[in-house]
Amino acid sequence: MKAFLEESQKYLIGNYARFPVSFVKGEGVYLYDTEGKRYIDMLAGIAVNTLGHSDPQLAEALCRQASTLIHTSNLFHIQPQIEVAKILVENSCLDKVFFCNSGAEANETAIKLVRKYFYDKGQPEKFEIITFTGGFHGRTIGSLTATAQPKYHEGFKPLLQGIRYAEFNNTNSLKKAITENTAAVMFEFIQGEGGVNPINQDFLNEIKKIADEKGLLIVVDEVQTGIGRTGKLFAYQHYSICPDIVTLAKGLGGGVPVGAVLAKEEIAKSFTPGTHGSTFGGNYLAMTASKVVLSRVLQKGFLESVSRRGKYLMEKLEKIGLKPRGKGLMVGVPLPPEQNATEIAKKALENGLIVGTAGGNTLRFVPPLIITQKQIDEAVEILTEVV
Ligand SMILES: Cc1ncc(COP(=O)(O)O)c(C=O)c1O
Repeated sequence: MKAFLEESQKYLIGNYARFPVSFVKGEGVYLYDTEGKRYIDMLAGIAVNTLGHSDPQLAEALCRQASTLIHTSNLFHIQPQIEVAKILVENSCLDKVFFCNSGAEANETAIKLVRKYFYDKGQPEKFEIITFTGGFHGRTIGSLTATAQPKYHEGFKPLLQGIRYAEFNNTNSLKKAITENTAAVMFEFIQGEGGVNPINQDFLNEIKKIADEKGLLIVVDEVQTGIGRTGKLFAYQHYSICPDIVTLAKGLGGGVPVGAVLAKEEIAKSFTPGTHGSTFGGNYLAMTASKVVLSRVLQKGFLESVSRRGKYLMEKLEKIGLKPRGKGLMVGVPLPPEQNATEIAKKALENGLIVGTAGGNTLRFVPPLIITQKQIDEAVEILTEVV
């Protein structure tokens, strides 16, 4: 047994079912393990490494920032935080930004913000948030409750009060879940962990209509779909909708932990001094990473190339008899019951290809957004052998 495996078991809490591999180096879309073996990475740290591994511009900016200033706290103004917020606001339909460190923390923040907004409006009875089956919003108790998948709840009850579930893409189910206490609906445009399940346009239209009629807030979890993953900076930009609150994490830091919540002005103003906070949120190092990531993703042609590469990947997968779904470089392949996604991911790994899995026996492809056509060919070639 490799030495690190024994020590890993001895010292780490065993909450992850890890593959028996550890990487020591990354370069672009490639990773190298302790034995020097090279892998093509179609997972990108689960939709995180936007610019691939060891991007020279990102590495250089982080090194420079680390040797200047890493952290001061939000008791003071942090200039790169203002710069990143400005970029996010100027490229979205939202007005204000709060920074934190992860997707779960961003969603936790969104839940608090919804409650505080209605409290401030004199409607404290409006605290219920409706979320959808197959969704995934994180592992902290609020975001876990928002995750309408019983398998994640086992052993952790009682959950948070005030979250109700409806079936994804089912308008009747949504209507039934609404009560006089409903404050918001919260969903992903493409459910990532749930199996790369896109929202139906008709269902989205109904959500908008119902939200308008009943004064509900629309909270969109773009932790996985955000920052160029689907070929637009935000997935909501594919649809004619402006959400009230958007949560981000994963790709925003390109590998450095960053989370964010974007909100419309009227809602954001409910977070007055002392109502919410995060020690590390938006510190110098994290914001330096986000600045580099955003500047690159917003470069002319970058997002178009994500869309093109995504289409190319889907076509290649179709050619080998698979049925991909998704948008941009967020692609899922549901497999028939006789094929097991986890087994295929394991075999792929042995053959030098890293792919993810998701709910519903789905293979998941969320590579670095800088992947080339040739590299897609290389990945699909290995997959073809494996499948
Ligand atoms: C849509 C979505 N929301 C929230 C989360 C939780 O993010 P984190 O693991 O950074 O807490 C994830 C993670 O997979 C996610 O895909």
